[in-house]
Amino acid sequence: MNNTGIPEMANRPDALETSSQRIGIDGEGISLLEEYESRLAMARRRFDLHPAVRLLFYDSLDPVALEAFLIAFAIIGVRMTEPVEGWITRAGARCGEIGLEGLAKALTAHARQEADHHLLMMADARILVERWNHAREPELNVGVLLNRPATPGVDAYVSLHERLIGGPTPYAQLAIEYEIEMLSVNYGPRLIERCVGLLGQDILEGISFLTDHVALDAGHTNFNRVQLGRLLEEQPDFLPALVAGGSEALEAYATFLDDCLGPLGSSASL
Ligand SMILES: [Fe+2]
Ligand SMILES: [Fe+2]
Repeated sequence: MNNTGIPEMANRPDALETSSQRIGIDGEGISLLEEYESRLAMARRRFDLHPAVRLLFYDSLDPVALEAFLIAFAIIGVRMTEPVEGWITRAGARCGEIGLEGLAKALTAHARQEADHHLLMMADARILVERWNHAREPELNVGVLLNRPATPGVDAYVSLHERLIGGPTPYAQLAIEYEIEMLSVNYGPRLIERCVGLLGQDILEGISFLTDHVALDAGHTNFNRVQLGRLLEEQPDFLPALVAGGSEALEAYATFLDDCLGPLGSSASL
């Protein structure tokens, strides 16, 4: 069992005898979930090599630039996060319409767990801007920043969701969730560590979205993985749409990180 209360498919004794199993070159069975993971490897690698990701997680980083990034992440992130509950709810309803009852229920349950997470970002933005104004220039105004138009990353992320939810493959929402929530698990701890190392322990007050999601999304990622395994077991033909949805989500998220390091995120033009 994982912390969502749902048994892990990989631990089931019959997991190797399912219809989703294929025979690999060496004669060993390959589950379609493993196939999904291997087809996502290139998109995940591309994300990891993206310049914004290299800068934030691997290169040397100026503390002022990091602080400016955090403000932009919280401000722009509101537009990435506020629609999430609605997107998952609508994807669940569409899945129900096309006969995917189990997935519809799972998405509806997950949607409730994402309610109001944008409020964490708004609270972070206020704390970070206050901290900035106390020590740095130019003076910032949270209300003005929140009213700035959507950035290219937000546009790409929103249009990906709308296209998938309104199209013939609403179940691909599950792959978006899986990839994006896994970023919290795989990258979140390193970012928090860099924030504390470069900006001091008190920065933790202004990064509640990050700290909460490192914990929350560990459970959500396990939940998504179980759902993805089940869906592929029942519907092997869904693999290409799931791979495409997950890959595009990572691309849009990398663009969002660019936005957070771009004009809004650069201390010179904030
Ligand atoms: Fe969340
Ligand atoms: Fe989550």
